[in-house]
Amino acid sequence: MSKLIIEGKNKLSGEIKVNGAKNAALKIIPAALLSEEKITINNLPGIEDVDRTLELVRELGGSINLIDNGCEIEIKNIAKNELPLKIASKLRASIMFVGPLLAKLGEVIFPSPGGCNLASGAKRPIDLFISGFKKFGAEINKKNDSYHIKAKKLKGCKYFFTTATVTGTESMILTAILADGTTTLKNCAMEPEIKALSDYLNSQGAKIKGAGTPTIIIKGVKKINAGEFNIIPDRIETGTFAIMAAAAKSELTITDCDPKHIEILLNIFNKINIQFKVGKNYLVIKPADKIYPCNVKTHEYPGFPTDLQAPFTVLMTQAAGSSIIHETIYDRRLLYSDMLMQMGADIIMCDPHRIVVNGPTQLYGKQLTSPDLRAGIAMLIAGLIADGQTAIDNIYQIDRGYQNIDDRLRAVGAKIRRINTLKL
Ligand code: EPU
Repeated sequence: MSKLIIEGKNKLSGEIKVNGAKNAALKIIPAALLSEEKITINNLPGIEDVDRTLELVRELGGSINLIDNGCEIEIKNIAKNELPLKIASKLRASIMFVGPLLAKLGEVIFPSPGGCNLASGAKRPIDLFISGFKKFGAEINKKNDSYHIKAKKLKGCKYFFTTATVTGTESMILTAILADGTTTLKNCAMEPEIKALSDYLNSQGAKIKGAGTPTIIIKGVKKINAGEFNIIPDRIETGTFAIMAAAAKSELTITDCDPKHIEILLNIFNKINIQFKVGKNYLVIKPADKIYPCNVKTHEYPGFPTDLQAPFTVLMTQAAGSSIIHETIYDRRLLYSDMLMQMGADIIMCDPHRIVVNGPTQLYGKQLTSPDLRAGIAMLIAGLIADGQTAIDNIYQIDRGYQNIDDRLRAVGAKIRRINTLKL
């Protein structure tokens, strides 16, 4: 067990590099199961969720060779059709293995996937995946918390997502690639990671059209070849660092990123008086004297990402006036606001989906526990601007998505250290 100790009110300065996107890496690794040849993945972030996903590949009989900043995966023969509970239940993206396993083996057993608990109910729903697999002709049995799915041969289908889902869209793409015939997916999510996954699979012989738009058409193919993939920059990490610099009223250069992927945030920065300079693959955030309030509503891409909602709320505690933050995707993703209130923020919870943030307020250092990945990083940002010391426990949740965050932030001037506490 480790915790982060942050001494607040230090300015940030210099350059911070953005790593490869977590939510692209978690999909591209399971996609390797579709090929029997070597897959090389570059710009792989060194984070907990990626380690767990690679562990799943090993469990399924794949060999992994770690290379500089990436890995090579080869899975000649898939050894089993069951995803182990102890890993799969920790990771929502474990469901990405199901389509390729069905295509290759015709049968798969998997537990309800885990991940951040962001929606009410014991776990985040997977109903759209299950109904999708059925459309491909799969038979599904659920016993306790485990699913058993069989499909002798997957058949291309027409599937309409009643809710746009990122992982759901990616999962159905992987399921369709080796299926017989053509699959048409409608009301798909449009996140850049979906297009990146499809572009890469097309370079290996897949036939996917329309990724990045609401309608995706996949023509089944017999085989997926060897390939090499560079993971796109993490747009959520980019946005997190941008918001962090703005909240700390600091000048920070964010490199190796794709500013186009956070267009919505940059447009909001224009409204709230955060100045910035944008290049093709970098972004410089300038310190603001006064930050204006702004109402924000989370939305599927290209709208405001739910994954930046908690960091943005911390920024709005420093704005002069009231902001309404409306979380439309998940109903448990505003619960961290209680912790911000303990730090001195003036927040009114209207209902599970909306809060009003009245600013500007001085935040004060506190002892906190990271509830989930994005709320955890929001607490870290709050700690950086707070008066006094903040201690954050349960930083496994932050390590799941941000590699060596303490080292990287120390390098740009943050007073932050990690201490390992013994489990008694
Ligand atoms: N939904 C259903 N049924 C389903 C699937 C989704 O009702 O079968 C609902 C969800 O409950 C939610 C909405 O659809 O209300 C959208 O969820 P989505 O499926 O798009 O989320 P996801 O694919 O599970 C990914 C990211 C999340 C990010 C969301 C939204 C990965 C591994 N995770 O989740 O990232 O918040 O898209 O952009 O790609 C994070 O990185 O911290 C994180 C949680």
